[in-house]
Amino acid sequence: MVKIKSFFITTAIDYPSGMPHMGHAYEKICADAIARFKRLRGFDVHFSTGTDEHGMKIERKAKKAGKTPQRFVDEMAVFFRRLCEALDISYDDFIRTTEPRHAKVAQEIFRRIYEKGEIYKGMYDGLYCVECETYYTAKDLVDGKCPVHGNEPEEVSEESYFFQMGKYRDRLVEHIKKHPDFIRPESKRNEILNRLHEPLKDLCVSRTSFDWGIPVPIDKKHVQYVWMDALINYLSTVGWPAGKSGKFWPADIHLIGKDIVWHHTVIWGSILMAAGVALPKTVYVHGFVNIKGEKMSKSRGAVVDPLELADAYGTDPLRYFLISEIPFGEDGDFSVGSLITRNNNELADNLGNLINRVLTFIHNKSAKKVPKPSRYDDLDRQLIQNLKVYTDNVGKLMDDLQLQEALDQLMMLAKFGNEYFQAKEPWGGDPANCLYLGANLVKCIAVMLEPFMPSSAERIWAFLRMPGSVHKQRWESAKELSVKAGHTIQKPAPLFKKFKI
Ligand code: MSP
Repeated sequence: MVKIKSFFITTAIDYPSGMPHMGHAYEKICADAIARFKRLRGFDVHFSTGTDEHGMKIERKAKKAGKTPQRFVDEMAVFFRRLCEALDISYDDFIRTTEPRHAKVAQEIFRRIYEKGEIYKGMYDGLYCVECETYYTAKDLVDGKCPVHGNEPEEVSEESYFFQMGKYRDRLVEHIKKHPDFIRPESKRNEILNRLHEPLKDLCVSRTSFDWGIPVPIDKKHVQYVWMDALINYLSTVGWPAGKSGKFWPADIHLIGKDIVWHHTVIWGSILMAAGVALPKTVYVHGFVNIKGEKMSKSRGAVVDPLELADAYGTDPLRYFLISEIPFGEDGDFSVGSLITRNNNELADNLGNLINRVLTFIHNKSAKKVPKPSRYDDLDRQLIQNLKVYTDNVGKLMDDLQLQEALDQLMMLAKFGNEYFQAKEPWGGDPANCLYLGANLVKCIAVMLEPFMPSSAERIWAFLRMPGSVHKQRWESAKELSVKAGHTIQKPAPLFKKFKI
């Protein structure tokens, strides 16, 4: 029997302390493109996302809203699920840290490390940034402010349990050096290795000054520190230590933003080492979506609502824009103007135009039927060759997580298709080869487009009247000449609207 390969990808789980923003949308779209691609590659995929619902930040927001924390997160989590639906995110699990299935696993990890003797009781006297739920020393601050949020951290003094994270420094360095793919891109790996030159302090893993959290299993006066809770969601989603974890753990990719790399590599890595659980294969760090070169921030009024944008311009144009505009692993800028420009020039005029002209021609001039090809000329042979070359190239780029480059190649194939159509002048002589190969090119593009723009891909599939769903195809089938002569297609409709800037 052939063993089906498994693939497990996660996004960070979002704080539902405010409404979902473009950063959340970007991360989910990128993870979704990878998950969809892997499914087309034949992997059995588990793709998880969710919400991080405990901690001081949430407790305070709930209080401000005059609600219990539970009611507050129940209401807010709905918006994050809605975001996933609106963006066509094909998640397999949406996990919330207030679910009992998660608390059980989070407590089990705590208990294992405690029983190993690596958690001890003490007093924490120091600084804490509630926005990022992170402990800081004065040395970590920039002008006395949190390096991520720019606010002044609070002084905290409370009884806490500590995890002997410090003793894992050498093992972490060794692991990072031995597994070059553990932290990607390389710049982030180097950043962490540099920070690990300094001694590593023990980590405070419980809190007593408030109670919105998972109770510490060995001492109910304490709740687990929110990161000692949230990170463990990656195990709970696969039902560790049983359930699907045998098949899916260790995770293939944790996709996260650049502000939480330390948490996902050093903190998570040492927790897993201490608990005797394998480390994820890759922590992939994407950049930030900025607005006019600056971090999105409510105080500056620079926050864009992804739901509104998907509604106004369409989900697929938004997905297309974010992947094509932002180099994966680096920061990029969002603006409605560039979204519209890319939509009009690249989606409507290039991709949409190709699909529309090929299918309209078949529909109107060939009685809806794909004609039978005859002797191929050089251009025809080039097209057949390109189906193979681009399917292989885009596939390799996606295997290597080069999302932007992969999408760019796909658009190059559409551009080639338009040039081919123009050069063949099907309105002049015999259009048979042009239409037959054109239909197969359109089908090839539909399959490869699926990870990026799933609903447009499915629409193209329907115009072509291909059997089944585009979501269930094999990547390799993209290059096959599987739209046969005599096959009847449907009248196409424009795929993309144009917008005025
Ligand atoms: N709850 C933690 C993560 C816990 S994971 C075990 C958290 N939540 S968050 O809501 O602040 O961020 C969720 C994800 O969105 C993170 O990966 C974060 O880096 C990412 N982004 C937040 N703002 C962003 C941008 N402006 N641009 C791109 N991604 C950004 O951190």
